[in-house]
Amino acid sequence: MRIEVFADYDQMSAAAAALVERAVSAAERPVLGFATGATPIGLYRALVARHRAGALSFSRARSFNLDEYVGLPASHPQSYRSYMRENLFDAVDFAAGACRVPDGQADSLKAECEAYEAQIAAAGGIDLQVLGIGTNGHIGFNEPGTPFGTLTHVATLSERTRQSNAVYFAGVEAVPKRAISMGIRTIMNARRLVLLASGSSKAEAIRHTVSGPVTPEVPSSVLQLHPDLTLLLDRAAAAALDGVSA
Ligand code: PGA
Repeated sequence: MRIEVFADYDQMSAAAAALVERAVSAAERPVLGFATGATPIGLYRALVARHRAGALSFSRARSFNLDEYVGLPASHPQSYRSYMRENLFDAVDFAAGACRVPDGQADSLKAECEAYEAQIAAAGGIDLQVLGIGTNGHIGFNEPGTPFGTLTHVATLSERTRQSNAVYFAGVEAVPKRAISMGIRTIMNARRLVLLASGSSKAEAIRHTVSGPVTPEVPSSVLQLHPDLTLLLDRAAAAALDGVSA
């Protein structure tokens, strides 16, 4: 595991963008894994800026997102498809159909989960997966207690996660209770992982990720077992780590 600590959010985001850019140029048909939430917005902003400057093209790339709410139409402003369109997809040059987000309105959610895994495999696997982390250590919507062997599945959001996400909805009651999420195994299958964390609310989860016991009770702890993981942190998120300084 590599750990890099930055003075602020913008520097962390720029470092993440540089990693994505390198992954795009390193492969003939790069396969990227994207995350949503507040944390990667700076990363996407930096990628869009590089694209607008003529320095970065996604025309050969494909992407898979970590997750999507069950029951929200793709056009709903809080769907993760809408988030990705707004923050990245509509601002850069991915080919039509190159970006996959789980369909949370599929007639058969089970079939959609299986198709998602099959499509990742058919694309040759994910070269670089971007991750955020929940205050409870969730990655994607893999909440505490999710078995490490899980593939893409229908996940039930914890109350803590629904409370965290309530700011984007008209109160906690409006937050969907379920999501389709890549599983822990799906994430661990990616060749490279980059996890971004910003702010003091993530410091404890980061400490568990780096040095806690590897246990499904803290899903991100499994990342200790990945052969190619980079943690990009701002100072506040790194504050509970021993011996790490910016
Ligand atoms: P955040 O979410 O980036 O909005 O903090 C991260 C997560 O819950 O995975």
